[in-house]
This record gives sequence, structure tokens and C-alpha cells, in this order.
Amino acid sequence: MALQDFLDQLDELGTAAETAFGAAADTVALEAARVTFLGAKKGQLKSIQQQMGSIERADKPTAGKAFNATKGRIEAAFEAAQQRSNNNTDSDSTASIQFDASLPGTTFRCGNVHPITQTIEELKDIMGRLGFSIVDGPEIEDDWHNFVALNIPDDHPARDPLENFYLATADAISGDKNPVGLLLRSQTSTVQIRVMEKTAPPIRIISLGRVYRPDTADATHYPMFHQIEGLMIDTDVSMADLKSVLRLFATSYLGDDVTIRFRPSFFPFTEPSVEADYYWNGQWVEFGGAGMVDPNVLQAVGYDPEEVTGFAFGLGVERLCMRRHGVADIREFYKNDVRFLAQF
Ligand code: DAH
Repeated sequence: MALQDFLDQLDELGTAAETAFGAAADTVALEAARVTFLGAKKGQLKSIQQQMGSIERADKPTAGKAFNATKGRIEAAFEAAQQRSNNNTDSDSTASIQFDASLPGTTFRCGNVHPITQTIEELKDIMGRLGFSIVDGPEIEDDWHNFVALNIPDDHPARDPLENFYLATADAISGDKNPVGLLLRSQTSTVQIRVMEKTAPPIRIISLGRVYRPDTADATHYPMFHQIEGLMIDTDVSMADLKSVLRLFATSYLGDDVTIRFRPSFFPFTEPSVEADYYWNGQWVEFGGAGMVDPNVLQAVGYDPEEVTGFAFGLGVERLCMRRHGVADIREFYKNDVRFLAQF
């Protein structure tokens, strides 16, 4: 073989190898290129080397030198490509270290149920065990259910516009002298009426929900809060039943060391009426009102007060929750501060 042809072949091979190694995008392509050019048996460099035998003897030193130079060139191209591929793999492996499946699990921040909702659920459970079923009522109420049927007369201060969130109705806006009074309910006692209107005795229900009063927010007041209302109607319900139910309710929620006390009070819809206080952790706290359902209320819903009697109670849910968890300010519940809410 003529020396020049041999040198030209070497040159072409060098260029082809550099291109191929430069283009090898991953380790598989790189290995394929290595086998093509540098393969010990069938590599192209090897086959050129085999042609050295047919070179004129005098030209052999030149051919040998050129061969070695090309071999060096191809090996250098291979090593450069290998280096580049290692770098890529390194950064891949850094990325894979960032997610190490063998490390212990990471705790993710997770939301939780609002403390008032948790309290409501617990109160439902407790009263459910005592045989009370749960009913709901609307938050927008009319005069009849919020006042009239509950024996709250027209001139009662509880009806004062300053004590209630009255809603402007279509009639009121058009100047009607006797608009249908709608308001955001100021008490859950409304649900007593709704249930009795639809159901014949015996009745044993509770209702939990929001009530609204235009109070200025402070540590113990908020214009919206929650009440739990209870009602039991049957042929021989007495004040003793009321006290037993409220005691069981209190001990179930706060613990066995709770004492209950009734103080005489007045509510238009109960007669007699009491304030219920609980003694727990060294303190008496008023939890709400209760009493025997007033005969006028029974009559308003079509019951015969000579046939049935009943008790009712209404307690503040926030108060119960605050007492149990040592929360000093009702406003905390409605600030939506996760640092507070996440503690429950
Ligand atoms: N509705 C009363 C209030 O909001 C609480 C109450 C008192 C409810 C006596 C009752 C009851 O059912 O019998 O202040």
C-alpha cells in the first residue's frame, strides 16, 4: 500500500473518530463508538494497523509514527468524551442524592379540624350516646321561630334591633309597614320550635350551630358564636331528668370531677328557668340556660301541656371549648392564626 494512501486513511479515521466521540450523548453511544474505533479485534484502528504490513519497508517508520499519532488522537477523543460523560453522571447522582429513598420519612405539615368543629363533633357523640338525635335548623330565621313561638312578647328587650341582626326584606325596602321579620337567628332555641311543629312527642334532640348577636368582640363576646340546644319532651319529663342529663353531659366532656349547680333564672320559653353552672378546676362557670319548656311554647306548636312536659337547655360551645382547653380569649378561634389552630 502506498504511504500516502495509508496516511490519508489515518487522517480520515482520526476525524471520523473525533466526530463520533464528540457526538456520543450517553454511555451506551460512547461504548459503541469505542468498539467501532478502538475495538481490540474488529476496531477500525486495528484494521488500519494490519495494513502496515503492506507498506514499503523504507516508509514503515513514517507510517508507524503517523499511526501512533492517530491512535493517540483517537484515544484522546475517547477520553475527553468519557470525562464529559462522567461529569454528567456526577451531576445526575447529586440530583439522586437529594431524594434518598433510604432516609426516614419526612413529616409534612398537615391541616387539622377547627377546634370548634372538633368540639361540636365531640358534643354530638356524647349526646348521641344519651339517646339524643341531631337536627339542623336555618341560620336565617323569621319572627315566629326566633321570638313569637318561644313566648317572647313584642315588647321584649331581646327583640331590640340593637340586640339582633335584622335583615332588610323586600317588603321592608318597599316601605311595607309590617314587613316579614327576618333575622340571623340569635339563639338555637328556634330549632326546638321547628322540630316540635313537625314531630309528635316523644322528642329527644340536640341542635348545634351558629347564632348571631351584634356584640362588640372582646375576650368573652363575639358577634357570631355557637350553641348547643337540647330538647326532651315526653309524658313525665322532670327537672331531675334535666339535671341528670346536664350532669352526664358535663362529666363526659370535662371529666368526673365536675359538679353541676342550678341557679334560678328567667327565660320566656321555660318555666321554671335556671342558669346551669359547672364547677371544675377550682372555679364555677356559667354554661348556659335551661328549664322546663313553658306551657305557652307547647301550645304554640300544638302540643297539649296537660299531656306532655319537657326540658330544654342552651349552652355556649365556645365556652365549653375554652374552658376545657384553657383558651382565654374567644377571638382566638376566629383569627385564623395557624399557630393557634394547629395546637388542637
Ligand atoms: N336561648 C338561650 C340564650 O341564647 C339559652 C337557653 C336558655 C336555651 C334556656 C334554652 C333554655 O333551651 O331552656 O340565651
